[in-house]
Amino acid sequence: MASSSSARYVGAVDQGTTSSRFMVFDHGGNEVVKYQLEHTQIMPRPGWVEHDPVEIWERTSSVIQSGLRQAGLSADDLVALGITNQRETAVVWNRKTGRPYYNAIVWQDTRTDRLATALDRDERGQTIRRKAGLPPATYFSGGKIQWILENVDGVREAAENGDAIFGNTDSWLVWNLTGGPRGGVHVTDVTNASRTMLMNLETLDWDDELLEIFSVPRSMLPEIKPSSCSEGYGSTTAEGPLGGEVRLTGILGDQQAAMVGQVCFEAGEAKNTYGTGNFMLLNTGTELVRSEAGLLTTVCYRFDDQPPVYALEGSIAVTGSAVQWLRDQLGIISGASQSESLAASVEDSGGCYFVPAFSGLFAPYWRSDARGAIVGLSRYNTNAHIARATLEAICYQSRDVAEAMSKDSGVAVDVLKVDGGITANKLCMQLQADILGVPVSKPVVAETTALGAAYAAGLAVGFWSGTDELRENWNEGDRWEPTWSQEQREDGYTGWKKAVERTLNWVDV
Ligand code: G3P
Repeated sequence: MASSSSARYVGAVDQGTTSSRFMVFDHGGNEVVKYQLEHTQIMPRPGWVEHDPVEIWERTSSVIQSGLRQAGLSADDLVALGITNQRETAVVWNRKTGRPYYNAIVWQDTRTDRLATALDRDERGQTIRRKAGLPPATYFSGGKIQWILENVDGVREAAENGDAIFGNTDSWLVWNLTGGPRGGVHVTDVTNASRTMLMNLETLDWDDELLEIFSVPRSMLPEIKPSSCSEGYGSTTAEGPLGGEVRLTGILGDQQAAMVGQVCFEAGEAKNTYGTGNFMLLNTGTELVRSEAGLLTTVCYRFDDQPPVYALEGSIAVTGSAVQWLRDQLGIISGASQSESLAASVEDSGGCYFVPAFSGLFAPYWRSDARGAIVGLSRYNTNAHIARATLEAICYQSRDVAEAMSKDSGVAVDVLKVDGGITANKLCMQLQADILGVPVSKPVVAETTALGAAYAAGLAVGFWSGTDELRENWNEGDRWEPTWSQEQREDGYTGWKKAVERTLNWVDV
């Protein structure tokens, strides 16, 4: 077993929507190694998005092995391991064989749109809002589990007799890392559980009334644990990808992990992460704030037996994946970095707006009947305008969420802390400062998601003494100041709101 006397580092697995990565951090929060592999996006029908859980486990195993090899490290060098993950994505597997019954249904998948709309039409919608802090939407795990139970042969029966078990990808990986069918532990943390529509935000336990709404048997659900857990969830095994025992002591949904990595520990502190989607979270302390402006109430983190800390969240489904769409579906760029040079080749978007409502619209609209649109086109427009409108769409969606946040909390964001892949796109970050009208600030260590998971794991074993020590590790790397006039900003935003209107009522739900 890795002992704290010889171990100098903390490991983190970040299982995201498009890739899985393994990172190792030192005591200063510096990156020691990073290794990452993409996995297949399976889109069998319009609106459906799936992942192969076995491929995810294999890729995760590979990145751990390759990362350790590249850094010349072994399990003995790690004091603890943290897991962070794409949230909501639902996996159901057999605990005896370890085989999934169906592909993972990804958070972006809209196959449950009719179910979500039906729930919202009666009092069940209110119950879900009140107890889970979430609007009934295709986004969350509850409907996805129900879909698998109702559409895959034999799963309901297997769930009732305890063989079929559910987890988000955190649970799936922890179960496999701790031995799989030979004794793997079936757990999750409060932040992931808070994204299922099945957990009560006040009791932090699965809620019978919510379970009944989705017809999900309690027996298939993981045990809910703190995000930083000094007693540990379990340990990795010698047969697994680490080749030895390392204590698993941190689990956080990826957006909550980024809050921890960005050291947003005080009420009023916020960050915006630019990944496949965008996720802006505002720490509301131990107070559970109910949104009236279209945000989610979610658990930010819970460290051991301390009171849980809550957050308001604005989730945006499509931001980085819109850039991917330019590359993979339209073929107008060859890589993400080209989106910056192409967009920079024109001065503005030439009057066009792109609303990438591929999965409907999430916060603050919550409209599963919306679909994507490019509007305002004239013969003048080129690929470059579309590329620029894509970057602007990322920033306008973040402005929608920032406005909702200031309505709900009464606090306007005065500096936006950012992280995630698209923050490498300097034009996009400048547009963000211009569209929001506030400075945008990026830390030196921009891998805040993996860092947050490492912090949660390391706090649990005393590798870091507390949150003050973590704060000292945060340093600003880049900063962008707004340059647009107020008039330019408001005109642009008015056009965006008009474009959003055009995407609504598109599909029948
Ligand atoms: O809620 C979905 C979110 O957790 C996915 O994040 O970074 O994989 O796009 P990401």
